[in-house]
Amino acid sequence: MFLTDDEKRMRDGAEGDAVAAAMDLLIRYGAALDAPRLCDIRNVAGTMTQPSPVKARLVAEGGWDKAFAVINLDSDADLTIPPMRVPTCQLQHGFGPDSVDIVPYPRANVDLQSDAESFYGRHGVNILATCTPYQVGNLPLRGEHCAWMESSAVIYANSVLGARTNCEGIASTGAASLTGKVPCCGNHLEENRLGTHLVSVSGIHVESFQDWGMLGYFAGGIAGEDHPVIVGDISRPDLTELKHFGAAAATSGGVEMYHIPGITPEAPTLEAAFGPGAAVPEAVVYGPAERQAMYATLNEIGSSPDVDFVLLGCPHASVDQVRQAAAALEGRSLSAGTELWIMVPRALREIADRSGYTAVITRAGGRVLTDSCPAMSRTAPAGTRVFATDSAKQAHYLPAILGIEAWFGTTEECVDAAVTGRWRGELRP
Ligand code: F3S
Repeated sequence: MFLTDDEKRMRDGAEGDAVAAAMDLLIRYGAALDAPRLCDIRNVAGTMTQPSPVKARLVAEGGWDKAFAVINLDSDADLTIPPMRVPTCQLQHGFGPDSVDIVPYPRANVDLQSDAESFYGRHGVNILATCTPYQVGNLPLRGEHCAWMESSAVIYANSVLGARTNCEGIASTGAASLTGKVPCCGNHLEENRLGTHLVSVSGIHVESFQDWGMLGYFAGGIAGEDHPVIVGDISRPDLTELKHFGAAAATSGGVEMYHIPGITPEAPTLEAAFGPGAAVPEAVVYGPAERQAMYATLNEIGSSPDVDFVLLGCPHASVDQVRQAAAALEGRSLSAGTELWIMVPRALREIADRSGYTAVITRAGGRVLTDSCPAMSRTAPAGTRVFATDSAKQAHYLPAILGIEAWFGTTEECVDAAVTGRWRGELRP
């Protein structure tokens, strides 16, 4: 792999042992990926503060420098970690101190994470604590090279913002944060960003939040790790619908990029989505039967109508989603024995608080929670057997993670389940 003089200097230790270890990792990683060179980046979204038993042991042995060296740099060397070289943010992690007594999450994890936030804050990591950094100020520009983790954020960055990132890991984002470099391959290269599969919506109209999620789940199954292009009978989506669509496509498949001609920035036309002069593949139709099949798949783990737990906000909710939930809960109370959690970026909860939405939800018995989610922290209200959600991603993962039943429906159906304790959802035309 070609290295610039500056990269060779870092590799050879001119900026300290930790930066040298980071560069060594990137060189090994780049070679494995067959990357011709490294990209300059100034935007890292990774995870350093997420608590784990291994992290707790490493911190006990050698402090946070040791934990970062082993987990984020794949190095057993005795390193002193310098400040981040480029803007770096922490994605979602565990629950914070204000969730104690609400969420059954180990107090030791809360304390370890608080300690981590203090260390990484001093090293220049912005503790955004959300899977949607693009909702709270981390908005890379079109064409900007980044090093991001979190599949739902990566697909949003590539497709909606037109930024360029592969789906990175804990070690590669750690190394990127100390060097401002990442292997230049995959989604970083223009020629790898074109559409590969055509999905045509026909016989139905995709407009609702729920329908965008089901369409994403279908597109991910069709495209796998490639790039679906969506055409046909769709309404112009907003941030929340594209957030849901992308998260679902990255869940049923490994989609990191998609195009919607006339809507997403790199596909002004269908021709541009596949590249000038390239043949447009035969369309795979998403119609009434496919929509029904997606709904059935996302509800196949649901059997008992008695709902213990309702989860909204996966990916983390926008302010508008919190406002909608508050409107649906206004003047109502949750059923005894049923809990409702809405996951939201911590910075947006401040807005929800000031707008009065949190108070409405709390009065009804619900919770507006931050930093994490049930799938991420492997936790739900004690005794949960059946949960309901409006998120295709959470419906896909949480039953396997916690061994519980799942219902997938509209936000309104989920709120209704929280209020009545019963699942009464159905697929409407
Ligand atoms: Fe975010 Fe958790 Fe969903 S991290 S994307 S809310 S699974």
